[in-house]
Amino acid sequence: MSKVFAQISMSLDGYVAGPNDGPENPLGENGESLHEWIVGLDSWRRAHGLEGGEESAVSPLVDEYISRSGATILGRRMFDLGEPHWGDDPPYHTPVFILTHRKRPQQTKLGGTTYNFITDGVSAALARARDAAGDRDVSVAGGANVIGQFIAAGLLDELDLHIVPILLGGGARLFDGLPAMLNTFEQAEVITSPGVTHVRLSVTPAGAGVRS
Ligand SMILES: NC(=O)c1ccc[n+]([C@@H]2O[C@H](COP(=O)([O-])OP(=O)(O)OC[C@H]3O[C@@H](n4cnc5c(N)ncnc54)[C@H](OP(=O)(O)O)[C@@H]3O)[C@@H](O)[C@H]2O)c1
Repeated sequence: MSKVFAQISMSLDGYVAGPNDGPENPLGENGESLHEWIVGLDSWRRAHGLEGGEESAVSPLVDEYISRSGATILGRRMFDLGEPHWGDDPPYHTPVFILTHRKRPQQTKLGGTTYNFITDGVSAALARARDAAGDRDVSVAGGANVIGQFIAAGLLDELDLHIVPILLGGGARLFDGLPAMLNTFEQAEVITSPGVTHVRLSVTPAGAGVRS
């Protein structure tokens, strides 16, 4: 069965965006520092329709995220902040399912991306995404609130954290409000590259036993 995974850049103090995010500052104050490691990578630039870039130890990982994702789930805040920057040919190239309480009509963009607005919760979004992804995996791309809900519901199989050694001091925090010992996180892989440490964790809901 295909996997449900999230991969996200996080500060040492656990934030995926700094304080006061907004249309002009989608990652909040100092939040751009979270993405410095990725925006210069060849694989990331290709996915965003940009030329150039450098290869690093982590380029294969970024290529893998892109190729394994058959559908993507986003929270409405991440969508509203990111969408103006993603333009007519967004970097997803797959169906995207946006969790929201505000119903909107589907939008079809260039390059295979569709925006589908889901108002009946995380399980419904996942069912739609799995259906769209076929044999490929489902990416829960953020933000913090939505990834937290997938963890809380025991629906996430893998969590890849790109840990950037900065303190943001406020903003959107990844594990906010999650009870202790909700899941077992097992370290599956660690890769270091300049300015960031990548930790791949397999996630098992508490009491579910070990999944194969
Ligand atoms: N560091 C990184 O790599 C990274 C990656 C992604 C995002 N981010 C940042 O993360 C921040 C956004 O994260 P966030 O935690 O604030 O918000 P979010 O998870 O993107 O979106 C939360 C919103 O989604 C809707 N929603 C969530 N669950 C729902 C449900 N079950 N049913 C219906 N609607 C639901 C609600 O919006 P409504 O009810 O208002 O519709 C809710 O307010 C942004 O600053 C973004 O730039 C960072």
